[in-house]
Amino acid sequence: MPETNIPEPLRVGVVGLGFAGETHLKNYLLQPGVEAVALAGKEEDKLRLLGETYRVPNLYGNWEDLVARDDLDIVSVCTPNHLHAPIAIAALESGKHVLCEKPLARSGAEAESIATAARNARRVLQVAFNHRERGDVRVLKHYIENGDLGRVYHVKASWMRRRGIPGMGTWFTSKEMAGGGPLIDLGVHVLDLALYLLGEPEVYTVSAATYAELGPAGRGGRTELSDLAKIPVGTAYEVEDLATAFMRLEGGATLLLEASWAVHGSAGDDFGLTLYGTEGGAEVRVRNYNWEDTLRIFTDVAGVPAEVSPQLTRGEGHLAVVRDFLNTVRNGDPYGEHGQEGLVRARLIDACYASALEGREVSLSDQTEEQAV
Ligand SMILES: NC(=O)c1ccc[n+]([C@@H]2O[C@H](COP(=O)([O-])OP(=O)(O)OC[C@H]3O[C@@H](n4cnc5c(N)ncnc54)[C@H](O)[C@@H]3O)[C@@H](O)[C@H]2O)c1
Repeated sequence: MPETNIPEPLRVGVVGLGFAGETHLKNYLLQPGVEAVALAGKEEDKLRLLGETYRVPNLYGNWEDLVARDDLDIVSVCTPNHLHAPIAIAALESGKHVLCEKPLARSGAEAESIATAARNARRVLQVAFNHRERGDVRVLKHYIENGDLGRVYHVKASWMRRRGIPGMGTWFTSKEMAGGGPLIDLGVHVLDLALYLLGEPEVYTVSAATYAELGPAGRGGRTELSDLAKIPVGTAYEVEDLATAFMRLEGGATLLLEASWAVHGSAGDDFGLTLYGTEGGAEVRVRNYNWEDTLRIFTDVAGVPAEVSPQLTRGEGHLAVVRDFLNTVRNGDPYGEHGQEGLVRARLIDACYASALEGREVSLSDQTEEQAV
């Protein structure tokens, strides 16, 4: 049942000035019926620059001052992960709708508290899983929904970087602030893609391992070898640099997940998925964020194996995420269970870290029961 008193234009506040914050801001301004009213972030020069560039009249150094405004309809949360829950909950409890960057939170428990706040406040909560809106993923989603792969029984999902630790010594490499390393940062995207493409199957068990071999030695950052000496000695690196997980899904399917910020693998940034189905297969392989020629469909033509390379577009990314979120705010069910997919991903990532720590397979039903105790 759509809410009847949706104001126009919708008044938006964005918290965070990094890639995520600017991307949200830009994409709101490309939509009709939206006014960017407030922006918050710690970097004073960047705050002023973005404020001028995007004509945002109210600028704040702290998120609390932005969320305290009583004239905002929407808050976008684009901060380090440890601030997702406090900002999202405060915004929801004061009646704003929330678009939160991935991951929804550092843990399943935190994600649950955000989803509960959305339910109690009857406000929309969505998580920005922008890679669903890539051109290759859109084509593959339609192909799978058409039944052309048959029953998909095994998926490999990975995001690997040769030397791509973001912000060595910043919030990204702090366990407390980020909640984890490449698994929660990059793995969450490809885990999301796999579950989304498979139609949200339940995950029964997880067996995972994590490694921290290069990061703690100051290796694997986005720095040239000659710059390594410039990384401060003792820079905290508290998270994994490689994670791998094997998941058993309902219906007998399996999912192999791998995520790394730094490994001795092929150079650059490489993410994608491989899907094996009873009637066909598919592979998305994205090298350094390219979008052309990234999808292969494996099928039989006249009884012989064939590969199809569909003609692709770049896709819309955050533009579609923001548009879909605004549509839900305007027309969605205020009594709906919002943010559930973000919550499911957070619980699965918890299970991966628990499995890696304990060195054993973890059942998702046990995990949920333990959290409920
Ligand atoms: N979906 C994507 O493709 C994508 C890409 C990059 C980042 N992200 C996500 O977006 C979030 C931010 O990542 P980023 O790379 O933009 O980080 P960043 O470090 O570049 O930016 C974080 C921003 O948060 C602000 N901030 C920190 N504490 C604050 C406070 N108390 N009050 C107000 N502002 C505060 C900082 O000043 C900074 O502007 C993360 O959760 C990350 O996982 C998503």
